[in-house]
Amino acid sequence: MASYRRIEVKPIAGALGAEIANVDLSTLDDETFRQIEAAWLEHLVVFFRNQTLTPEQQIAFAKRFGEIHYHPFMKGMDEHPEILEIIKEEGDTRVFGEVWHTDQMFNPKPAKATILYAKETPDAGGDTLFANMYLAYDALSDPMKEMLKGIKTSNVGDRKILSRSDEIGSTKDGRYAGNEKMAAKVRDPGDVQTESTHPLVRTHPETGRKALYISNHTQTLEGFRRAEARPILDFLMTHAVQPEFTCRFRWEVGSLAIWDNRCTQHRALNDYPGKRRRMHRITIAGDAPF
Ligand code: SIN
Repeated sequence: MASYRRIEVKPIAGALGAEIANVDLSTLDDETFRQIEAAWLEHLVVFFRNQTLTPEQQIAFAKRFGEIHYHPFMKGMDEHPEILEIIKEEGDTRVFGEVWHTDQMFNPKPAKATILYAKETPDAGGDTLFANMYLAYDALSDPMKEMLKGIKTSNVGDRKILSRSDEIGSTKDGRYAGNEKMAAKVRDPGDVQTESTHPLVRTHPETGRKALYISNHTQTLEGFRRAEARPILDFLMTHAVQPEFTCRFRWEVGSLAIWDNRCTQHRALNDYPGKRRRMHRITIAGDAPF
């Protein structure tokens, strides 16, 4: 594990995830940011507590990681289109992101990173799970790695995900039945591409490590019959999110997480019926996976 002079980095699990202390994200100097970025690449997802950030300060922090990525069919906040406000109201039965996924995998250039900032949290519940896709790849047998080499996946977003509709709260009429506020943010993607082909095993552009690149957006394996692809995908999905490859983060108001979508999956837990949760999410533009 690397040592960091300006920040305190404490892993929260064996597989991935670390809390970073001694940092005020609203007044960050370049050297402290470089150390945060290095800790993020090492731990895949990093967490901060007790941050007080205006939307402008969250956007400024996000821009240190790269250009803002705008969601093709979810509308950002009126005053701050860079921020997608994720809300679950007391009466909602569904939450945004409640299946394992990696952000915007349906996009030809999926988001590199996601920054999620907690504004309102339930007393208990509403944690987020993360899984390490480097470990998921490393743990496969050599013959399996050999078989997966060069395979491409087809990944869809929006209303095209009908075959797995129960899992994501999708209906023929809209994705977020059971959560009116999120349903209202869905807009027509227009010409934006919401179906993309990606390598099943991708190489992280910064660390050079191989990661399994799969999530609930992944529908088929190119060139395979559906009956052949389904059991392989089901095996890989179950394998990838086994507890040994995961960590779990308990949110408080003022907590902020940054995760690397190129080597992780995440899942929001829907275990706080009758309670409200409100988060501010920003995604950072990424490159085409290779
Ligand atoms: C997401 O999937 O981006 C949201 C995760 C969460 O709300 O915990």
